[in-house]
This record gives sequence, structure tokens and C-alpha cells, in this order.
Amino acid sequence: MTVAYASGKVILFGEHAVVYGQPAIAVPVTQVQATATVEPGPAGRGITIIAEDLKQSYTLDQAPPNDALRAIVVGTLEHIGVGTKRDLTITVSSTIPIARGLGSGAAVSTAIVRALGQHFGNLVPPQVISNLVYETEKIHHGTPSGIDNTVIAFEKPVYFVRDQKMEIFSVKSPFLLTIADSGIASPTRIAVSHVRRAWEREREKYKELFDEIGTIAEMGRQAIERGEIETVGRLMNENHRLLQLMGVSSPELKGLVEAAREGGALGAKLSGAGRGGNIIALVTQETRSRVDMMLRLAGAKDIIVTEVS
Ligand code: MEV
Repeated sequence: MTVAYASGKVILFGEHAVVYGQPAIAVPVTQVQATATVEPGPAGRGITIIAEDLKQSYTLDQAPPNDALRAIVVGTLEHIGVGTKRDLTITVSSTIPIARGLGSGAAVSTAIVRALGQHFGNLVPPQVISNLVYETEKIHHGTPSGIDNTVIAFEKPVYFVRDQKMEIFSVKSPFLLTIADSGIASPTRIAVSHVRRAWEREREKYKELFDEIGTIAEMGRQAIERGEIETVGRLMNENHRLLQLMGVSSPELKGLVEAAREGGALGAKLSGAGRGGNIIALVTQETRSRVDMMLRLAGAKDIIVTEVS
């Protein structure tokens, strides 16, 4: 049996604007992960996919053509040149909450590519994993920028511009992020199409918002590379303000962001598609427990602290 894993992710700066060509920064979150196992299946049965969390089990032949798990299995087997005429059981599970901006779909697909690659002795390089997973992201999200599959495949902090070569950059002084879940599922596809409709109605306003967010992502990268953590926090606050103007915050996210700041976070913002999902707060060893308490009082359903390094 072969087992492989993939981490979750959060977006530090630039969500939504990245879909329109602006830079964004994302980092892996290793505290949550997707797992895929590959083992020989019953003879003559073909390929069975078991999605444990969804309590689903089906063969490739039974899967609808646009099933994301089917797509990543077929795409990977074709890429590594072993074809789909195999008797295999592929089981996936994940501790990454679904539709919370933590990249659950991309992580499950990445774990499958890694597990199939290892099983057939063909280690798939990160850029190829990212390209394969991007195809399934289109099924999940419609018009993805590609940032989720990139950060999850490379498992490093990435500076990403759509349709350009991504860059891995260095973090001068590691810092802590508290990730707090509003408990509200918010599918990326819906939030992205909401922003698209708003952009179509008010192109000038949205272009300005996207440009400003792009500048923040640039400045954020420089601040992280120089170890200027307080600047990172200020830029997170500013990015959140612009996301609010874009219409992707919510009363729950606003409450969590304000609670984190009251608790002493250096900055806080929603992360991912918004309208639900998670917020992130920049904390220190000294402030993390107070921020944690304030977030729980404000209704956070789950809290993860991760180090960006
Ligand atoms: C989702 O994690 C981030 C968005 O910017 C969508 C995308 O980049 O495809 C909202």
C-alpha cells in the first residue's frame, strides 16, 4: 500500500485580485492535511475511488465525467504512462475543512497524484503536480487563478501571478498566524462569480481595488523578505479593508477580524474566497493565547496556529 499526503494553505495577500492578474502570496498550512492511499484492488474491478469523509465509493466507470477525483486519477495515470486499465483501490480522506479557504480540493488532488506517482515508481515533480491539479481546480472553482494548486504542490511560501512562473521567496523572520474558522462554508466558485458580476457592473471601481491589492501583495512580500513583521500586520489590515469594499466580507468575518485585533494581533484579514471560511491573524508567542480567547468569544469554531517560515 502506498500513502501520500498534502497540506492545506492560506492566502496571506491578494485573494480575488489574483484572478484578475494581480500578484498574491500564499503559504502552506501543515497542521491540516489530505491523505491518499493506493493499493491493489479486486481483480477485474477496475479502479475504485473511496472518499471516506463523503462516505462515497465508486468505480471510474460509475463516476460522472466531471467528477474531480476521477479527473485527477485519469490525468495522473495518463501522465505517468500506465493507463487506466488497472485494478486499484484509491482511498482519500482529509482533515482540511471543506469550503473554508484552506485548499481542501487541491490538497486531496495533490495527495492522489503523489500517491499514484509513488505507487508506480514515478515521482511527479511539483510543477507537474500543480498543472495536473489545476485541471481539477477548474472543475471545483470554474475560473481558478492557480494559486491553490501551486502553493500546495510546492509546499513553500509562494509569490504568484497568474500565467507567470511562480516564485518561492524567503521568510527572513518566521512568524505565527492564527487561523480561525467562522464555521460558515463558502464555496470558492460562488464567491468568485459574485466578484465577477460586481466587476462587470462597476469595472473602474473593481480595477482600482484589484490594483491596490496587488500593490499590497508586492509590499507584503518585501516586508516578509526583510523581516518587517509589523508592516506585514498593517498590510493585512489594509488588505482586509479592500476585501470588505469588494463585498466578500461578512458580519461573522468582521467580528472575528476585530476580535483578533482587540486581542493584540498585529493584523488580521479574511483569507480565501471570503463570505465565510477563515480569517487569519498575525500573532506572537506573547499575544497568541489572548487572541485565541478573543476569537473564541467572538464565535470562532476552530483555531489553528501555524508558523510561516
Ligand atoms: C481561493 O483560495 C482564492 C481566490 O483568489 C480564487 C482563486 O485565486 O482562484 C478567491
